Order: sequence, then C-alpha cells, then structure tokens
Amino acid sequence: MATTETPPQTNPLEAGLILRRAPDPCALVIFGASGDLTHKKLMPALYSLAFRRLLPPRFAIIGVARTEGGDDSFRDDMKSAVQQHGRDEFRQDVWDELASHMHYVATDFADEGGEQALEEVVESCDRELDLGGNRVYYLAVPPGAYPMIVEALGKHRTATGWTRLIVEKPFGHDLASARELNRIIWEHFDEKEIFRIDHYLGKETVQNMLALRFANGIFEPIWNRQFIDHVQITVAESIGIEGRADYYEKAGAIRDIFQNHLLQMLALTAMEPPIDFTADSVHNEKVKVLKALHTPGPKSVVRGQYGRGYVEGVEVAAYREEAGVARDSMTETFVAAKLFVDNWRWADTPFYVRMGKRLARRETTIAIQFKRAPHPPFEESTAEGLRPNVLLVHVQPDEGVSLAIGAKVPGQGMTIRTVHMDFLYGGAFRTKMPEAYERLILDAMLGDGTLFTRADEVEEQWLLVDAIVAAWERDRPSFPNYAAGTWGPPSADDLIHRDGRSWRRH
Ligand code: BG6
Repeated sequence: MATTETPPQTNPLEAGLILRRAPDPCALVIFGASGDLTHKKLMPALYSLAFRRLLPPRFAIIGVARTEGGDDSFRDDMKSAVQQHGRDEFRQDVWDELASHMHYVATDFADEGGEQALEEVVESCDRELDLGGNRVYYLAVPPGAYPMIVEALGKHRTATGWTRLIVEKPFGHDLASARELNRIIWEHFDEKEIFRIDHYLGKETVQNMLALRFANGIFEPIWNRQFIDHVQITVAESIGIEGRADYYEKAGAIRDIFQNHLLQMLALTAMEPPIDFTADSVHNEKVKVLKALHTPGPKSVVRGQYGRGYVEGVEVAAYREEAGVARDSMTETFVAAKLFVDNWRWADTPFYVRMGKRLARRETTIAIQFKRAPHPPFEESTAEGLRPNVLLVHVQPDEGVSLAIGAKVPGQGMTIRTVHMDFLYGGAFRTKMPEAYERLILDAMLGDGTLFTRADEVEEQWLLVDAIVAAWERDRPSFPNYAAGTWGPPSADDLIHRDGRSWRRH
C-alpha cells in the first residue's frame, strides 16, 4: 500500500540487524497461526522485520489453523498481537503494508484433502506475486501434528524454487522419538532444508560468545583446563509455567531447557574454533562437544520442584497448585548438574549448570571462572576481598560481558579488591536488541542454517537427557523441595559445595 508518511529509520546499525543479502521472494506458511508462539513471537518478529524493511518485497504470509476465520479476522488478531507484544513502535503504515501480504487458511490436515485448501491459496499467491515456488513452512503446532503435516507437504513439493521447513522445539521427547521424527522428515526434506529452532541461538548475546572467543586473540590461549577452574551456566526464570501445564507436565525442566538451550550454550562455550562460520563447520564443532559430554554419575544431577513462595514480592502458588498440574506431580521445575567434556581442552574441568522456574530473578549467564593467581606476593589479609577472575557473559537481561579482576584500593598500603570491567550492549551500540526470532526467520529465508541445530546435535542432546531421566526412575525425591523465589533446592548447593566451590553470588 502506498504511503506518504516518512519511512521508519533504516540505518542498519541502528536497526540492530544487518542484512548481508536480501531473501528471495517467498511464501511463509505458519502452521499454528492461532497459537501462542505466533501471537507472542512470530508475528511481532515479522512486524519488526517489516519495520526495518528486511522482508522481501514480493512476499506472502499464510497463517494456517483449524479455527474458523478469514483474512480480515486473521489480520485483526495479528494486529493486536503486534501491538501487545511487539518491541517496536506500532506504525499504521508499516502494519498496513505487512497486512496486505497476509492470508488465512482454516483447515485441518487430519481431514482427507485438508492440505488442498492451503495449496490453492499458496499457489495463487505464488502466481500473483511471482514467488518462483519458494516456500518456508513454519511448524508452530503441537509436535504430535508434525508427522502428518510433513507428509502432506511432502506430496506438494513445487517443481521450481526452494522449500525450507522450520521445526519448533521440542524436537521429540527422547532419543527414539527424535530419531523417528528425523526419519519421517528426511523422507520428504533434505537435511539442508530443515531448520530446527533453538531460539537461544538467535539471541545476540549467545552469538557473541563466538565473537568474544574467536574474534579476540586474548581469550583463546587461556580458554582451557590449564587456566579455567570451572564454568557455570545459569538459566534462571522468575516466571512459572504460564498456563502451559499440558506441555510442561510431560517436559519438565530437563526437556524444556536443559536438552536444548542449556546444552547449546554449553556447546558454544566449549567448542573448538570452526574453520569458518558456515553451518556445517559450526555444527561439526558443536557436535564434538556434545558427544564428549557426560555426567559423572547420578549424584551429579539434582532436580527440584517449587513450592509456594514469594517472587519479587508477590506471593505465588506451588507448581502442584498450578492449573492443569497433577496434585502429586513429580515433574521437575529445576535441574542442576555437573558435567564434563572429555577432550584435551576440558578434561577434569567441571561445567556446573542450573536452570529453573520461579527462581529469585530472571537471569541467564555463562560464567568462566579462572584459576587463582599461583603465588600472589601480598599478605593474605590484604587480599581478603579478592575473588578469582571471572568472565561473565550476561545473556539476559542487562546484556553484556563483564570481567572481574583484582585492583588496588586507593590509599596507603596494599589492599586488593575485586572490581569489574564492563561492556554493556545498550551503552556500546545504542540500539535495541533484536528478538531472537527476527534473526532466525530471516536466516531460514536466506537458507542459512548456522544458527539452527543439525539432526546429530539434537540426537546427542537426547542421548544425555535419556541417561539422566533413566537414572531418575530409580528414586523419588520429596517434592516440592524449594520455595518459589529462592535459588533452588539445598541439594543444588550440596552438588557444588562438595567440590569446594559455590554458585556465583547474585
Ligand atoms: C522456551 C521454554 O523454549 O524458552 C519456556 O519452553 C521458557 O519454558 C523460554 O520460558 C525462555 O525463553 P527466553 O527467551 O524468555 O529466555
């Protein structure tokens, strides 16, 4: 739609996303168009991409769901989703332009010929807009529906153009189901056409781990067992399960966060330098870490479930009191573990990880704790306030990196204390952080799979999770074992205290 208003700012640096090349014209088909993910993440991300003019000029968005409705009601619904969840100012002209590309198809693939209704709309968009047969399919539906949709799509491969399939997590429930899902998808799609989402890989700060390690000469020589005492990765959330009991009861923290986001962050922290930044080079290095990963035994993994408590001053219910959760549920909402990466770089260096819901604060961090100076020539009393050097990557919130170092306190004598050298994204780049989904949708349109997970990575992740879950079957902890608003159960502290270490102070 033509507009006389001034265009939104397009300075790529200010825009927060820099486009290396424009995506080809294509149709983006979103399965699960009436779902939460589409409302909260996908449509706001598409709006932000439109706001920055990063979408191809010839482009169609086709929402698919079982709910009755037409183009107009879909556009209205998506408009309020963008207004409610978008990170950018809402501009009517940007929206009108985006909405003019949007269509809705109410259909059920479970019905005989259910996919025909979709095919007709996609084909007509293709003809009208000259999209060259290029298609991105986004599976944002409950995983049970993946096989049926994939098989139906497989029958309608276009003769021209490219096809890409974005698959949301969870990718399977265990190793066997993930393998089976891979097998079904591979019958119709090539691995290069499959984009398995782990949205943490789309986060700027997670990618910055690669920049920090491989764009700087100073870190790599000390990034190993000789200089690093241990690594701590924390994914703490203050929110609960947000009405997702159906999913969470079956997933728990181990499948929801550990199997994917946590292990991916660990892999990026521990991997060897890839020879280049192409998808295969990066996946090859990550998968080596995942293959080398193990827990030393059942005592090295603890689980928890929150009881009632106070989060940020507000009283909240216990997990077992949440709607849809069994009153005697044994689903874990917290996991802490000690892991080792068995290779030359990391042998005997523990990676302590913890993640949970309803913890004291939202905080995702990767902390690299270095060994102490071998022989500080100061009297012990002068260095009481000195802690070991820590390189702390703040994934979120307050995105940035901070290095804890010892410094002399001004004044007479020699007193040493820990201070921080800080880099904050907000200050350094003066731009709002793009949402992970913006980057990932764009990358899938560009056919760049670097920030997605390859089949073998997902399978290695499940292998570890399956081993942990199998060990859990042998005992029954007494849940709840931590109060909402705390940092998890006492057993998580024991896990690290046993090694003479402690969780990073908050
Ligand atoms: C999702 C999990 O993958 O990640 C949620 O299913 C979790 O349970 C969310 O809350 C956390 O993502 P973010 O981007 O808010 O850290």
